[in-house]
Amino acid sequence: MSHSDLTCVRDEFPPDFTWGAATAAYQIEGATHEDGRGESIWDRFSHTPGKTLNGDTGDVACDHYHRWSDDVRLIRELGIGAYRLSISWPRILPDGRGRVNEAGLAFYERLIDALLAAGVQPWVTLYHWDLPWLLEERGGWPRRHTADAFAEFADVVARRLGDRVKQWITLNEPWCSAFLGYHTGEHAPGRTSLPDAVQATHTLLRAHGMAVPVIRRNSPAARVGITLNLTPTYPATDDEGDRAAATRHDGYFNRWFLDPLYGRGYPDDMVSLYGEVAPVPEAGDLDAIAAPTDFLGVNYYSPAFVRDDPARHPWRAAPSAVPDADLTDFGWAVYPRGLLDLLLRLHRDYPTGPLYVTENGAAYDDAPPVGGRVDDSRRTTFYRRHLTAAKAAIEHGAPLRGYFAWSLLDNFEWAFGYSKRFGITYVDFGTQKRTIKDSGRWYGRVATTNRLY
Ligand code: FCB
Repeated sequence: MSHSDLTCVRDEFPPDFTWGAATAAYQIEGATHEDGRGESIWDRFSHTPGKTLNGDTGDVACDHYHRWSDDVRLIRELGIGAYRLSISWPRILPDGRGRVNEAGLAFYERLIDALLAAGVQPWVTLYHWDLPWLLEERGGWPRRHTADAFAEFADVVARRLGDRVKQWITLNEPWCSAFLGYHTGEHAPGRTSLPDAVQATHTLLRAHGMAVPVIRRNSPAARVGITLNLTPTYPATDDEGDRAAATRHDGYFNRWFLDPLYGRGYPDDMVSLYGEVAPVPEAGDLDAIAAPTDFLGVNYYSPAFVRDDPARHPWRAAPSAVPDADLTDFGWAVYPRGLLDLLLRLHRDYPTGPLYVTENGAAYDDAPPVGGRVDDSRRTTFYRRHLTAAKAAIEHGAPLRGYFAWSLLDNFEWAFGYSKRFGITYVDFGTQKRTIKDSGRWYGRVATTNRLY
């Protein structure tokens, strides 16, 4: 397929296409000490000096915990039909397991009911990175019992909301939880141990697999999936060394998760590269991980172009510049073709069933509103180009059924604090005033008319 395929697509999306926007609990809720919420690894990490830019924390964030009904109105005003939110585990089970905090459940129940009343379909992610701190103290994701704790959490939430929530995502981006959280230490809990990170991938995948039947039991009409941050990987040159490096990098980011989820176990090449730190699955683990799902969630921001570099970890190939790409203000390469390649590759190589882009978006350093408007034309262009790629993927046969913009609101961007604005809505963090950006108005029009402009 040539680049021109990206420009000559028809502009109508399939009739039942889902249009949404996404957020995550710790990034927007604030109210971290209210109504019985327990502590999470992100509370602990963001309050540790030097871990986040400017020492920013999610203590207040977008104050969504108090402003949720305004935010539901905002979603309605935007005209989008689906909203992907995540549930704060320590709001529901402050100690990670055992004692249930009724006020936490009641909060999400009110929110879900308001979304449904507004005609907005809730998509619930159970784990978007806020592990209860007490579970981390007991060993965190590298330890097997954390998967049992997750299944318990899934059970409590699905029992309460399972009659109303029909779309469930077990985990968001387990690669990040494992490798940024336990190997590079850039994310909570900030540990720097490769063996812990690799063990964490196994517990996370088990946690997903154990939660799938638990959700189905409590939510009979549920559709259940997982969201991965998949990274289309290209060799920087046609050199044999670079091509082999790209294969390993693809193994590290993509195949390590996709292969076991679709019943193939861990990829042999990666198991031998990890050597003695590779997980040793116990009887039944791989079957549990491969529990059939109803869809795959794909988060896509940027591709990886890689070179061979023997000085680095063999599977973490050296990054190389992305050809002909603009950069967002995060420094991430804008490469819509990566989304097209990724969706087609998933369709070709794995029995994923329906695909949803559960996150895609761009950080730009928006100026504050002037006369009630935020002119963010670069973000609109980013969305238009990626939606054109998504549309091309559909025309080439990929079963893409929906798309969620990241993010509904500017929010707490993890280690980068409030310095990176991804929202289609501008948030003034001093006053908490929300202003729909031009990109949000454009996206709302796309969502309501089901076609690109
Ligand atoms: C993804 C995360 C999301 C947000 C975006 C920019 O990796 O899932 O919470 O931070 O990146």
